[in-house]
Amino acid sequence: MPLWHVDEKGAVPMEQITQPKKRMLSGIKPSGDLTLGSYLGAIRNWKGREDSFDCFYFMADLHAITVRQDPAALRRRTIEQLAQYIACGLDPEKNTLFIQSHVHQHAELGWVLDCYTMFGELSRMTQFKDKSAKNADNINGGLFTYPSLMAADILLYQPDYVPVGEDQKQHVELCHAVARRFNGIYGEVFKLPEPFVPKVGARIMSLTNPSAKMSKSEAEDTGRVLLMDSPEVIMRQFKRAVTDSDTLVHFDREKKPGVSNLMTIYAACTEKSHEQIEQEFAGQGYGAFKTAVGEAVVETLRPIREEALRLMKDKAYLESVYQTGAQKASYVAEKTLRKVYKKVGFVAR
Ligand code: TYM
Repeated sequence: MPLWHVDEKGAVPMEQITQPKKRMLSGIKPSGDLTLGSYLGAIRNWKGREDSFDCFYFMADLHAITVRQDPAALRRRTIEQLAQYIACGLDPEKNTLFIQSHVHQHAELGWVLDCYTMFGELSRMTQFKDKSAKNADNINGGLFTYPSLMAADILLYQPDYVPVGEDQKQHVELCHAVARRFNGIYGEVFKLPEPFVPKVGARIMSLTNPSAKMSKSEAEDTGRVLLMDSPEVIMRQFKRAVTDSDTLVHFDREKKPGVSNLMTIYAACTEKSHEQIEQEFAGQGYGAFKTAVGEAVVETLRPIREEALRLMKDKAYLESVYQTGAQKASYVAEKTLRKVYKKVGFVAR
């Protein structure tokens, strides 16, 4: 039998009063418009958590400038990303939604953690290697130390879980290593967070090149689907999706990467298992399958797109959300930063 706490507001299970909620935190760089990959790999896994977790989600604009950005486009995308977070189901009354650069503690802890992250660790990061290959004329210091800033983003809030797609797991593991190193020197300053990767949809690939991740910062026409794409564009993208010379809808990432990617997307949108999908399309060929996947994606994204379009017109509301979010985030972040500054030996202001 659970114990109940009763007061003038009603009855609440005792454990909800005595145990503070666990915390979740994650972010996305506004370096491009959000894709189906950002949604299935990350945001879908963030929503609906607010009853069990204290949730913090942000637009990682500090991270976006590690690659050159057009300033006006970056500003536009940052605000639109907030509208899309809300449209995806993140209620700002119950989740703390904020812009990373509004909370100065991120950059400050980022610098401190730079001094506790090793050159060798940073050199091994897959994202650094990929991004340096793609931006050979701009391999800047920020691109290299990006994971220390990401560690700061996380550790400032002492979260239990960091819900991310597969590609960010390595960064969360590095954050763990940095936190452990720091705690080893100064005592238990940081909670060690766990990456929280979805079972289905953690790695959505390009529709035209299924060996590459679907990415928001790639040029158009690279087999990506944007959250804000119209149903016509989405259907066109799926009709053009690369499959193979076989006709069998069957899951095999190695031998059938295109079909397996489409199956993952379909499974994520319909909650059907691979076996159910294989049976559904047995003997039908790829045409019907691609159309069905396209339609499932259209229906998944339709309400999000419609709500985001409505919210994007309400600039005053969005501003109120990110201002309140920054205040709440800053309050939590400052507590950790103050502790860290004291531990490393800075004189209190
Ligand atoms: P970013 O902006 O590249 O991606 C944001 C989130 O979306 C997931 N994701 C995908 N998942 C499945 N398939 C895909 N094709 C796909 N593309 C993107 C990513 O795994 C990620 O969860 N460094 C981070 C942003 C960040 C952050 C943080 C995240 C900055 N600070 C602190 C968590 C905690 C990044 O570049 O994600």
